[in-house]
Amino acid sequence: MPSVNEVAEFNTINRIGVLSLNSPPVNALSASVRAGLLAGVQRAAEDDAVDAVVLICRGRTFIAGADITEFGGPAKGPGLTEVQEAIENSSKPVIAAIHGTALGGGLEVALCCHYRVALESARCGLPEVNLGLLPGAGGTQRLPRLVGVETALEMVTSGRHVPAAECLKLGLIDQIAPEGDLESAALAFAEQVVAEKRPLRKVRDINDKLEAARGRPEIFEAFRKGIARKTRGFLAPEYNVQCIEAAVNLNFTEGLAVESQLFTELLKGPQSAAQRHAFFAEREIWKLPDVPRDTPQIEIHKVGIIGAGTMGGGIAMNFANIGLPVTLVETNQEALDRGLAVIRANYERSASRGRLSPEEVEERVNLIAGSLEMEKIADVDLVIEAVFESMPLKKEIFERLDAIIQPNAILASNTSALDVNEIAHATKRPESVIGLHFFSPANVMQLVEVVRGDASSDAVIATSMAIAKRIGKKAALVGVCPGFVGNRILAPRQFQANQLILEGAMPWDVDRVLFDFGLPMGPFAMSDLAGLDIGWDKAKSKGQTVRDVLCEMDRRGQKTGAGYYDYDESRQAAPSPVVEKIIQDFATRGGREARSISDDEILARCIYPMINEGVKILAEGKAIRASDIDVIWMSGYGWPVYRGGPMFYAEQVGLAQVLSRLEELAAEYGEAFTPAPLLTELVAQEQSFRDRGF
Ligand code: 3HC
Ligand code: NAI
Repeated sequence: MPSVNEVAEFNTINRIGVLSLNSPPVNALSASVRAGLLAGVQRAAEDDAVDAVVLICRGRTFIAGADITEFGGPAKGPGLTEVQEAIENSSKPVIAAIHGTALGGGLEVALCCHYRVALESARCGLPEVNLGLLPGAGGTQRLPRLVGVETALEMVTSGRHVPAAECLKLGLIDQIAPEGDLESAALAFAEQVVAEKRPLRKVRDINDKLEAARGRPEIFEAFRKGIARKTRGFLAPEYNVQCIEAAVNLNFTEGLAVESQLFTELLKGPQSAAQRHAFFAEREIWKLPDVPRDTPQIEIHKVGIIGAGTMGGGIAMNFANIGLPVTLVETNQEALDRGLAVIRANYERSASRGRLSPEEVEERVNLIAGSLEMEKIADVDLVIEAVFESMPLKKEIFERLDAIIQPNAILASNTSALDVNEIAHATKRPESVIGLHFFSPANVMQLVEVVRGDASSDAVIATSMAIAKRIGKKAALVGVCPGFVGNRILAPRQFQANQLILEGAMPWDVDRVLFDFGLPMGPFAMSDLAGLDIGWDKAKSKGQTVRDVLCEMDRRGQKTGAGYYDYDESRQAAPSPVVEKIIQDFATRGGREARSISDDEILARCIYPMINEGVKILAEGKAIRASDIDVIWMSGYGWPVYRGGPMFYAEQVGLAQVLSRLEELAAEYGEAFTPAPLLTELVAQEQSFRDRGF
């Protein structure tokens, strides 16, 4: 096949030129892909034996977007606009043949083609918003011309990958090709275009759908309102909306100029840098430096779960969702029935929201069996223990599992803080034991910390990561230490939050500052939601802490209608004068004068010790990379993605700045802020986490 350049080939079949790109893994629009596209289109223009061009990709997907790794670097080769103009202005029809995903710049290239054919399994979308960007190659101007303003708004602000059938309905593509035969279908389509002398349809010239929205600003206002909550703090969604507004109110060229200006602004800003970091961090977590990629894995066909409480039930749903049979083991029928009923109710709620069909509910529920006998799960390949958080109980269970379960199985614990090594040594096969720390609600939350014990085998680690991926989670491999990575970083923040309210801040001040920083809620709102009495013991409570007093007063959080806040019937929180008084009394008893604490101090005292703890975790080797910690905090605790996780945030602020603030705080408030030695070293040597191999 005659090559155009190292990633593009041009072949002529029955007077149709087939320009095929082959740039693994995802045919991203790198400099060589852009050059290949441009040269290919030019070759077609010059060749009298070619009447039309099919643009197709080899490998797993059509062009999946601009090459994100090139962002921020020097411009190389032909620009994307030049390539797009060559396609759109071609005197011969260009037909995009789409398989896999046509995303971002990929779809923007396809939108410059005169027609689009896609496999039924293909998807199209403009996901730039998820990278803190907007489609910067005409996408915001061409998309609404084809699909209309409302759909375009939804697509660019959600980044949704739209299935081919829906694309056809929307007018985004012109034909669906049968699975497996894309090239022939696209060739036939191209021959038809030539035979029928169909026009060279330029999307930029289609205006009817935009005209329908002109003079109706209420469309945009309503849309903005609709997405406000979900997109709080993010810049890109609003910028995307402004571009679609420009498409409606300006001509194509002017609209492109607005798009280009806003794109550049986002690209250079801190949010997109953070969101691009998040994109790569989420892909890096799967790479394990000391576990070979070809480690043979244990096949998982059946799963057993011990304990059908809050976590066990949610965990079970993950496996049923991918078609694996699960058996839940409980101590008594009542707990088992309750657990199974919660699972059914969860599935039925999904069905009532249209996310599952009634048949799917039954299929999934039927995959989950219950038993009161551990012997019933002797043949499973993976056991996950999710009983009460008690070391003696967990050890007893693992001893029994060791005696019962077939020898190749993985024995996992969902403990949130206990020593996985100690649990492992309750068995005679510690190499088979690992922590799988799911987050609550386990059927919803994306994160799993895979906690490797000292003896966990490579096969057990590799399989645990792989199964977490199969059930759609983000898994981070972490080491054994109190609270592992996520909760260990949470602990100093909780400690500081409690200190701050004794010094003069109110819970709602602390919560507001962290909420405004971008977290879903602050520590006190979180306590109220979870229940203040988790881990509280009535018999031992002596009013030593604010929490003790609140629990003693039966202010145990939202469930009792009061906690740090007062709640009305619709669970709306309001600052509580009672709590304010209790806190003041505590401060007086401690001999402290309440002082006014600035928002800046609240933020620094809550966030900087978290970063410091993260650095200690890296120094101790309990997390592989700084970016793994970021993924844990973004996906498990709602750290705002536009700030890229605590470790990325630290580098954005500047490690030297973090260090000097910690030193100031340590001088004022003591050792809780003593900088981690590794942080001091990094700053002294002007190194980043990555420079040091983290
Ligand atoms: N640029 C550079 N590298 C990319 C890339 C891109 N656009 N998209 C994916 N990759 C890399 C990944 O980093 C990964 O590398 P690795 O193997 O070294 O970790 C590899 O390709 C495979 O990616 P995935 O693991 O994500 O593979 P999947 O098969 O699960 O998913 C995908 C494929 C759906 C295409 C997914 O990779 C994806 O969503 N990619 C990003 C799509 C996107 O956001 N496009 C818009 C880019 S911005 C843009 O186009 C600007 C324009 O408007 C001007
Ligand atoms: P839970 O109290 O809701 O459920 C525990 C279940 O285990 C109960 O139904 C109980 O009957 C059952 N059980 C007790 N002993 C048993 C035995 N010998 N055999 C079989 N079943 C037995 O507790 P939850 O919240 O589900 O927690 C379970 C584990 O998950 C704990 O280790 C906890 O630390 C951990 N975890 C909890 C999170 C949460 O937010 N609830 C988050 C992450 C981990």
